[in-house]
Amino acid sequence: MKGALFDLDGVIANTAIYHFAAWRNLVKKHFNAELPDSLEEKTKGVSREDSLRVILDYLHITVSDKEFQALSEEKNTAYVQALDHLTKADILPGISQLIHDLKKHHVKIALASASQNGPIILKKLGLFDEFDAIANPQLVHAGKPAPDIFLAAAKAIDVEPNDCVAIEDSVAGISAINEAGAISIAVGGLELSHAKKRFNNTNELTYEAIEATWQQYHH
Ligand code: BG6
Ligand code: MG
Repeated sequence: MKGALFDLDGVIANTAIYHFAAWRNLVKKHFNAELPDSLEEKTKGVSREDSLRVILDYLHITVSDKEFQALSEEKNTAYVQALDHLTKADILPGISQLIHDLKKHHVKIALASASQNGPIILKKLGLFDEFDAIANPQLVHAGKPAPDIFLAAAKAIDVEPNDCVAIEDSVAGISAINEAGAISIAVGGLELSHAKKRFNNTNELTYEAIEATWQQYHH
C-alpha cells in the first residue's frame, strides 16, 4: 500500500450535513419547497453544479444560466458561512489517528474531493500539512462517479491507482474509486455495498483494518 486517497465531506469531517442544509435553505427561500432526506445521497460526492441540477430536476424547475449561477453561488456562500466555526474538534473519530499511522508507514496521502472548499476545510481542521497532495476538482474532466479525481489524486502523489486504497462515503464516490482501479473502502450504510470493504463508522477505519483490506484485495 503506497497511497491513501481520501474523500473529504463525510469521511474526514462531518461537513456533508452542512452541504445539504445549505441546499435545503436555498430551495425553501427561492422556491418555497422542501427537499426529502432521500435526495441527500444523490448530492453526495457530486459537484456543486451537478448537485443543483439534481435538485432542480427533482423540483421540475428550469432556470436561466444566470439564475443557475446565482443559486450556486448563494448556496456556497451559505455553506462557507456554516464552516466558520469548524475546528480540529470536527474531525471525525479515528481519522487523525489513521492519518498519523499511514504517515508512520510511509503511505502517501492525497485528497480526492469534489469540493472546491477542500483546502480551506483542511486548514481549519489543522490537517492541511498532513496531505502530500490535493487534487483540484476544477482541473478534472468529469466529476464522480467518473474516476478522474481519484486518478488525479494518485498521480499527484506519484503512485499507481492500484497501489492505493481510497475512502468514500458516497455511492458516486465508490463507483469512481472502482473505476479508477484503487481499492475502495466505504464508510456508511448498505447503499455502499459496491465497495470492496465497508465500515459503518469512521472509528472503524484503523490502519490495521485498512492494511488488512489492502492485503486481501490488491493484486
Ligand atoms: C462533495 C460533497 O465533497 O463536494 C458534495 O459530497 C458537494 O455534496 C461537492 O456538492 C462540491 O462541494 P463544493 O464545496 O465545491 O460546493
Ligand atoms: Mg463525501
